[in-house]
Amino acid sequence: MIQEKTNLELNTPVTGNDPVIEIKELYKSFGTNEVLKGVNLTVNKGENLVVLGKSGSGKSITIKCIVGLMDIDRGEIKVFGSDITKMDNSELNKIRVRIGFLFQNAALYDSMSVRENLGFTLKRHAKDLSAEEVENQIKEILESVGLSEAIDKMPSELSGGMRKRIGLARTLILKPEIILYDEPTTGLDTITSREISELVLEIQKKYKTSSIIITHDMACAKHTSDRLMILKDGVIHAEGTYDELEKSDDEWVRSFFI
Ligand SMILES: Nc1ncnc2c1ncn2[C@@H]1O[C@H](COP(=O)(O)OP(=O)(O)OP(=O)(O)O)[C@@H](O)[C@H]1O
Ligand SMILES: [Mg+2]
Repeated sequence: MIQEKTNLELNTPVTGNDPVIEIKELYKSFGTNEVLKGVNLTVNKGENLVVLGKSGSGKSITIKCIVGLMDIDRGEIKVFGSDITKMDNSELNKIRVRIGFLFQNAALYDSMSVRENLGFTLKRHAKDLSAEEVENQIKEILESVGLSEAIDKMPSELSGGMRKRIGLARTLILKPEIILYDEPTTGLDTITSREISELVLEIQKKYKTSSIIITHDMACAKHTSDRLMILKDGVIHAEGTYDELEKSDDEWVRSFFI
C-alpha cells in the first residue's frame, strides 16, 4: 500500500506505515441515493492525503463520518486505532478534540473580533486556561497563519483569504493531531489559493499533523499531497502520488489533471 514518495520537490517527510485513520468498507446512503459503497482509505501519521472526486461523489460525507458527525450504514472507521462507530458520545468527544475540521464554507462568528473568535474556541475546550495563556496562544497561532496584525479586526474587515486563515487558526488553536480540510482554497484567487496551500504544508511540518485535504484545486492537490485518492461511484477508484495519477492509464483519472 505505501508507495515511495517520488515528488521530492515537496520536501515533505516520507511517511511510515502507521495509520491514524483507517476506513474499511464504508457504506452510506440517503434513501435511494447510495453515496458510499465500500470506501477503503488509510491516512498514515504525518501524511497529507488529498481526496479528489466530482461534486456529489461523497467527499464531504466521508470526512463527516470520520468525526462522527454523520451516522454510517456499515463499515469500520478507526481513528488512532479505535473504531469511532462503536463509541458513545463521551468517548467520541475525547477523539474529536484531537481532530481539527475545517468545514467547507466555514464561517467565523461575525459579531466577534478575531481575538474573540479564537479565544471563544480555545476556552470552550480548555476551560482552566488563564487569560494570559489564552492571549499567548491566540498570538502564537495568529503568527503561524501570518496574520498577527488582524487580532483586533472584525470578520467583516477581512478579505476572503484572511478569513480562511483565521478559520484555519481557529482549527489549529486546539493543537489537533489530525486536520480534515474540506476545500480550503475554494473561492480564492490563484495567488491566495497558493498561499493557503503553502500554509497547509507549513502546518504539516510545524505541528506534525496528519491530514485529509478535499479539493477541486489541482494546484493545491499537487502542492500539498503526499498521496491522492479519487472517489468515484462510491468507492476509491484510484490511488497514488500526484505524478503517478497524472500519468495513469485510466483516461478518466487523467482528466482531473488537465
Ligand atoms: N444530509 C444529507 N441528506 C441527504 N443527502 C445528503 C446529505 N448530505 C449529503 N447528501 C448527498 O450525498 C451526496 C454526497 O455529498 P457530499 O457533500 O459528500 O459531496 P461532495 O463530494 O463533498 O461534493 P462537493 O464537491 O460538491 O462538495 C450528494 O448527492 C448529496 O446530495
Ligand atoms: Mg463537499
